[in-house]
Amino acid sequence: MQTDKNKKIEEIMKRKEEHIKICLDKPVQAKQVSTLFECMHFINNSLPEFDMNDVDLSSKFLGHKFSAPLMIGAMTGGAELAKKINGNLAKAAEELGLGVAVGSQRAGLYDKRLADTYSITRKNAPTAFIGANIGGAQLSRGFTVKEAQQLVDMLDADALYIHLNPVQEVVQPEGEPRYKNVLKNIGQIASGIDKPVVVKEVGFGISGEVAAKLEKAGVSAIEVAGMGGTSYSAVEYYRALDFKMNVKAQMGNLFWDWGIPTAASLHMVRNAVKIPVVASGGIRNGEEMAKAIAMGADLCAAAWPFLRPATISSEKVAEKLNELIAEIRATMFITGCKNIEELKKSGYVITGELKDWIHNKQ
Ligand SMILES: Cc1cc2nc3c(=O)[nH]c(=O)nc-3n(C[C@H](O)[C@H](O)[C@H](O)COP(=O)(O)O)c2cc1C
Repeated sequence: MQTDKNKKIEEIMKRKEEHIKICLDKPVQAKQVSTLFECMHFINNSLPEFDMNDVDLSSKFLGHKFSAPLMIGAMTGGAELAKKINGNLAKAAEELGLGVAVGSQRAGLYDKRLADTYSITRKNAPTAFIGANIGGAQLSRGFTVKEAQQLVDMLDADALYIHLNPVQEVVQPEGEPRYKNVLKNIGQIASGIDKPVVVKEVGFGISGEVAAKLEKAGVSAIEVAGMGGTSYSAVEYYRALDFKMNVKAQMGNLFWDWGIPTAASLHMVRNAVKIPVVASGGIRNGEEMAKAIAMGADLCAAAWPFLRPATISSEKVAEKLNELIAEIRATMFITGCKNIEELKKSGYVITGELKDWIHNKQ
């Protein structure tokens, strides 16, 4: 007879595979909204006075060197296909001197046999910056510092990412919309484990107010994961349809485009905290990366664009990463910014809807 624990593990493994398949096969991006980076405009520099090859993209995040301000966002683990994906993502990140985070490690914590679907990341990326991962909802029932440390140790990670996902928990068929005590638990984990804690969203954006609370709780960095890219309401919408849970499916539709646009979330968070900020959620090219850095991000991350390449090979992942790197290099050349420090000081103009978000009292 199956134990409850085994049932739970199987349920998580199945869910992880469904998330991957849905993100590969169905439209899961924002529908009628965007990151609003299109409302941020650089000023063309016709006289950069250096060669494009002289652009220095090297960046630092939480004491780690990156060859460019880019990392692969948290996606997966806990299933066979996930192991292949994590392996290919890690190999490419190592080769290019970038970073990579794994998806929620809940399954690996329940069942040690699944640990290698995550630890393949460190195996294939011995020196790259690696993020461990767990969900905020898991913290509401009291996640111990020891368990949090186990997540980090499972893949010898450089930081623990905690994702906040109340919208996803609402729509997900097996969702656990419980957020009581989460902030308190984040604080305990941040002061108890031997690596920095980064808190992220999953595509709905973090506000300035939430960011300030997280900084006060002792978090080392915030990844905004704003709206405009992958919609987890969309992902769970398809699953709710399969589960024949009509109200949940309806909510998936209702909240498909919910959230704080990434550029607005970045602005809010950057103004609310002093700790490093990662821009993510719908970042799809190097020009958007440059815009995010100019608006105050220390690093950029993207997830979905690397998923399909990772099902093929590490070379395909590297190809996509190199595309973004070439684009940010070109953007820095045509804005006359020789390095990331200069890009951070670069001038720009904000128009349209992003201006509305920025000028409103939050
Ligand atoms: C297939 C897939 C699985 C994901 N799983 C996780 C996860 O386990 N933990 C997490 O923090 N974020 C997870 N995310 C969210 C991403 O890290 C990211 O915040 C979000 O997709 C927005 O970025 P994007 O628009 O570049 O995809 C997942 C995203 C995708 C596409």
